[in-house]
Amino acid sequence: MGAVEPVRTERLLLRRFTEQDRAPFAAINADPVVMEHYPSTLGRAESDAFVDRIESSWRERGWGLWAVEVVAPAAPDEAPGFVGYTGLWPADHVAPGLVEVGWRLAHAAWGRGYAPEAATAALRLGFDDLGLDEIVSFTVPQNANSRRVMEKIGLRHRPERDFDHPSVDPVASPHLVRHVLYAIDRATWVAHGGASEWAGEATRR
Ligand SMILES: CC(C)(COP(=O)(O)OP(=O)(O)OC[C@H]1O[C@@H](n2cnc3c(N)ncnc32)[C@H](O)[C@@H]1OP(=O)(O)O)[C@@H](O)C(=O)NCCC(=O)NCCS
Repeated sequence: MGAVEPVRTERLLLRRFTEQDRAPFAAINADPVVMEHYPSTLGRAESDAFVDRIESSWRERGWGLWAVEVVAPAAPDEAPGFVGYTGLWPADHVAPGLVEVGWRLAHAAWGRGYAPEAATAALRLGFDDLGLDEIVSFTVPQNANSRRVMEKIGLRHRPERDFDHPSVDPVASPHLVRHVLYAIDRATWVAHGGASEWAGEATRR
């Protein structure tokens, strides 16, 4: 079960993390611009521990967050290589068994539609390979870029399911407690022809 094998999209290779990804991933997690909507940036040890959890997920569940590698750069002056993660992650704190699609990319890689392109592959994995009934995504209301990605890949805001994140400290980070929840269900995915219709229209800028 799951796509342990790498997945190729139009411009990206979605694959398991390698040891070589750890340093650039730590730089992403230490960047205050990338981490603006999180309670704090991550140090090297925290970043490495996150990679360990990601790899455990692949081993134990057969799915998780992919390392996103640009293999066909959008711009001529852009170097190929690792730019961050996109993929599926458990959201049991929202509801038992619920699965989230998520993303975090290096600032230099923003604005090229890489997150929607990779996230559409994650929806395909979740619905077509794992047989999920629903996939959600959530963030703080002020994270406009992430909400835009959710919209582009076909998720819709479900205000009645907005929630207070249980692991955010309301004293230290009151502005990061409330989360907006977006969702797409299997019927909607199928009705829109799955990835074949989202691709092109929804994943490209
Ligand atoms: C969210 C994120 C992955 C978007 O990835 P992406 O590949 O840039 O996605 P897109 O190219 O489709 O851009 C999405 C929107 O971001 C905004 N955006 C793009 N490039 C930007 C830039 N350089 N600076 C500021 N905003 C930018 C635009 O509003 C864009 O929408 P548009 O295509 O309608 O113009 C990226 O912004 C990121 O890693 N953010 C930090 C981590 C994070 O918050 N993750 C989500 C937590 S729930």
